[in-house]
Amino acid sequence: MYKILEVKELTTNIFSMVVEAPRVAKSCLPGQFVIVRTNEDSERIPLTICDYDRNAGTITIVFQIVGAGTEFMSKLKAGDSFHDFVGPLGCASELVTDEVEVTSKKKILFVAGGVGTAPVYPQVKWLHEHNIDADVIVGSKTKDLLILEDEMKAVAGNLYVTTDDGSYGRSGMVTNTIQDLVNEGNKYDVCVAIGPMIMMKFVCKLTKELGIPTIVSLNPIMVDGTGMCGACRVTVGDKVKFACVDGPEFDGHLVNFDEAMKRQTIYKTAEGRAFLAAKEGDTHHGGCGNCK
Ligand code: NAD
Ligand code: FES
Repeated sequence: MYKILEVKELTTNIFSMVVEAPRVAKSCLPGQFVIVRTNEDSERIPLTICDYDRNAGTITIVFQIVGAGTEFMSKLKAGDSFHDFVGPLGCASELVTDEVEVTSKKKILFVAGGVGTAPVYPQVKWLHEHNIDADVIVGSKTKDLLILEDEMKAVAGNLYVTTDDGSYGRSGMVTNTIQDLVNEGNKYDVCVAIGPMIMMKFVCKLTKELGIPTIVSLNPIMVDGTGMCGACRVTVGDKVKFACVDGPEFDGHLVNFDEAMKRQTIYKTAEGRAFLAAKEGDTHHGGCGNCK
């Protein structure tokens, strides 16, 4: 069992939790995620790691209520426990696994959209701890929905907040601010965009035009988190990839976002899953290599 030490409602329907999970905290790196289950028979919920404290043996997760599983999670209090807390899963961000000298030479722009601010935070924090200051754009629909502003301010080189309705910071979507920063003369070697799929699609469209290589972090539906079920299948370039084991980060200019968004919708029903399994055949899931 994994004890919840602290619960905070960051804004409407978005919560953070500090969870005692020493083995995950010991080895996780920015970019990785966990899969949690509240009870033995609950839904498996993938969540990106927002922060970790190796000494305290804790992990901070951030989640939004999007269905029954996350609604149930939001009712948990400090002192309650998760039945499962599996991780760290997926590959760590390339920015933290590359040589620090290599990363430190890069001018990095992070683009965080809504709840996607949570997985951006540990990357920016890690860079800051290694004396690398990155520019960060955080976009939110309105001022009230903005999360982790103070935390991000403490670790970002420059923080640009933008709201779709102009209620706080700059006005408009994150893509407007990217364009403004470039127009103002900023040059970026790499952009990391994390947020809703539609945001990542349009950020990538723009950064492709601007010639800025872009990494995205995909969070499609995940079930097993081991490449076996096919839930998180995506096409990157001409290759089939599984976000849980090959990602979650990919070259955003190669991701087929339209297919990924369509597939997510189809995957939600049993009929849709059967359709995808038939259509995708042997490439439907990664498999363990022994199942044939
Ligand atoms: P949101 O809808 O409030 O969007 C956040 C920001 O993204 C907006 O403020 C805007 O600046 C930008 N954006 C949205 N649509 C855009 C477009 N068409 N063009 C340019 N910019 C655009 O975000 P939310 O409600 O917090 O998003 C929830 C979604 O984020 C869920 O679907 C969830 O699955 C996803 N999410 C993704 C990750 C990840 O790792 N990729 C992590 C957490 C949540
Ligand atoms: Fe099952 Fe990725 S979650 S293949």
